[in-house]
Amino acid sequence: MQTVPVGKTPLRSSRLVYGGWRIAGTQDATAVTADARKSGIAALQAAYEAGYTGFDLADVYCGGVCEEILGEALRQTPGMREGILLATKCGIRVPGVPAGAPYRYDFSARYITDSVDVALRRMGVSHIDLLMLHRPDFLMDPSEVAEAFGRLRSEGKVREFGVSNFRPGQVDLLQRYLGFPLAVHQVEISLRQLATLSDGTLDQCHALGISPMAWSPLGGSGPGSFSPGVLRVLAGIGERLGVTPELVALAWLIRHPSGILPVVGSTKPERIRAMARAAEIQLERDDWYRLLEAALGARLP
Ligand SMILES: NC(=O)c1ccc[n+]([C@@H]2O[C@H](COP(=O)([O-])OP(=O)(O)OC[C@H]3O[C@@H](n4cnc5c(N)ncnc54)[C@H](OP(=O)(O)O)[C@@H]3O)[C@@H](O)[C@H]2O)c1
Repeated sequence: MQTVPVGKTPLRSSRLVYGGWRIAGTQDATAVTADARKSGIAALQAAYEAGYTGFDLADVYCGGVCEEILGEALRQTPGMREGILLATKCGIRVPGVPAGAPYRYDFSARYITDSVDVALRRMGVSHIDLLMLHRPDFLMDPSEVAEAFGRLRSEGKVREFGVSNFRPGQVDLLQRYLGFPLAVHQVEISLRQLATLSDGTLDQCHALGISPMAWSPLGGSGPGSFSPGVLRVLAGIGERLGVTPELVALAWLIRHPSGILPVVGSTKPERIRAMARAAEIQLERDDWYRLLEAALGARLP
């Protein structure tokens, strides 16, 4: 698969990133079976063999089990660690840890650096290529985040940094305190979630050279997530191009000039392989707008 630079950094990633949120088959860490772990490893290996080189995790995915599964896949697959961009996220703290604590976001330097140490141990790796802050901490002190990032970088634990689910103003604020450019901004974008097209997020990514990553690019449950109108247009374009509707939905994201990297979340090896072809489709302007209009469910003004 085609690889592209990630932001203004030396990192590169396949145009489609593989997302590991669902690889444990559940989000309940106490319910993960040995078979589910095996299926998760098979999904990661299918993605690697199909040419995905970007892998997206988070510390909270199944309470850390997804990072463990990724670590197991790396140990079982010769060359995989060196061949991929390994991304994970931190900053969300689950309720009850420690006892009585609420659900919260925490960008304190101590929490960020401790989270990285835990992630490195879980995955059995010496460094993370890309660390993202998962959801904006309203109490963020940008100078403290900058200090934590600087320390992680100088210790060789993390190469590059990004954010997820920020507002453009929050990206701007943090960026002002960093001595280097943020690499990525991971946000929800699909034919079901159009907000970033017009709220300044994608424009900001484009202007600053930050790579946008699209989470839930198929709306979170495959083509069935889309409205009947969108599905009709996807099917029509797909038939004309000889590809499936989901490939057209991914190509719609890739066509945006900001350089969106869709994060594919299927756990089925055959779907993971099939979706890798989306990077080869060049969607025409007219088809892109047909889909936008169908997604809006209204004529453009
Ligand atoms: N930063 C954030 O806050 C955030 C939030 C959510 C997700 N993410 C990242 O984004 C990644 C992708 O998110 P996502 O998993 O929601 O993406 P998605 O690709 O929109 O949805 C994947 C889901 O759709 C199903 N699916 C895919 N193709 C299908 C088809 N042809 N027919 C029926 N079902 C189909 C998959 O089922 P099968 O597994 O059965 O194929 C899976 O349940 C995650 O893994 C994670 O890395 C980030």
